[in-house]
Amino acid sequence: MTAEQIKNLLKTHKTPIYVFDLNELRKRVDFLKQSLPDRVKLCYAVKANTFISKEMGDAVPWLELCSPGEYRVCKKLGISPEKFVISGVNKEKSVIEEMVSEEKNIGCYTAESVSQFNLLYESAEKAGRKIPVLLRLTSGNQFGLDEDDLERLIEEYKDSEFTDICGIQFFSGTQKTSLKKVQREINHVDAFIDNLREKYSFNTKRLEFGGGFPVSYFEGESFDEKEYLSAFSEMLGNMNYQGEIVLELGRSIAASCGTYLTSVVDIKKNHSENYAIVDGGMHQIVYFGQFMAMKHPKVRLFPERADENAEEWNICGSLCTVNDILVKKLPLSNLQIGDTLVFEKTGAYCVTEGISLFLTRELPGVLLLDNDKFTSVRKPTETEFLNTPNNI
Ligand SMILES: Cc1ncc(COP(=O)(O)O)c(C=O)c1O
Repeated sequence: MTAEQIKNLLKTHKTPIYVFDLNELRKRVDFLKQSLPDRVKLCYAVKANTFISKEMGDAVPWLELCSPGEYRVCKKLGISPEKFVISGVNKEKSVIEEMVSEEKNIGCYTAESVSQFNLLYESAEKAGRKIPVLLRLTSGNQFGLDEDDLERLIEEYKDSEFTDICGIQFFSGTQKTSLKKVQREINHVDAFIDNLREKYSFNTKRLEFGGGFPVSYFEGESFDEKEYLSAFSEMLGNMNYQGEIVLELGRSIAASCGTYLTSVVDIKKNHSENYAIVDGGMHQIVYFGQFMAMKHPKVRLFPERADENAEEWNICGSLCTVNDILVKKLPLSNLQIGDTLVFEKTGAYCVTEGISLFLTRELPGVLLLDNDKFTSVRKPTETEFLNTPNNI
């Protein structure tokens, strides 16, 4: 955002606030498309930021949805279900049955386990419909299917009446910086696809692949994205598998479009350390785990001030925990109450991963226990109304 845009924004809106720049988002998607081979299609992982789902539905062929909440957000936004990849380790029977009997076919479902596959199959059979399914291959954790289970499903269901097993999903994690590791994973998946062809005459029509690409959030990090994407594209080119590849990306698509603004409400010196308290906090700005306070994110001061007489400031949020530190020892000149800190690259996860709204899942109910008596003080609460743009 320009200084002028920030000035205008702050005249009419109070902080803390997120701004998602849709032009920046579109530019970002174009850049990724241009940097990757033609057979690669993008799938936006909605968990990164639900508020840009509508624009992403227009910009890319697929949206990955990991919870009933994300599904409802996208439906409310009027996005065609044909674009949805229904993913996630916890698929609820009633929700899957509802999806399978929708008027328009859902784009595809992933199966994370044998029981999830059975649920999908039975729901499709009940609705009298054939549904497209991707089998998720595990990368050695709680996600996806073990090789043996996946092979058994292919063997038994590859020509089945109610499921069209259209390919493999493999997602191994986020911020994958090591190209060597990426190469190993590509080789592994490629060999597995070969194996399915040889052993079961199974033709993989689509490979949905991740790790998510890395985003460089902090000062001093050296990540050459162009080089990374070109090496990655070459790796894809060298695969035996030459079918369609769908890349599931959240962070890499959304991060750069976001700005988070939070204002200084108090300043003090405690035991010779400078502290600034801001009106936001760590519940609203999450880059990547807990490294944040140790490193310097891309943050600017508004109003801008020349770098003269800079002092180091610990920037702390408004939560009642000593952990609520946004940045440690940030050099700022002549910091004052009322100044605004402008955090860049906050388009991914900040708005959803901030403790309670991630994945647009229900907030859990809360009970008090007093002498064996339970009292409900909060009913389970759906959160999609908080993660849906309210201008529709
Ligand atoms: C299955 C799946 N797809 C896509 C993503 C998006 O990853 P990223 O935001 O790193 O691009 C995630 C992230 O957790 C995921 O679990």
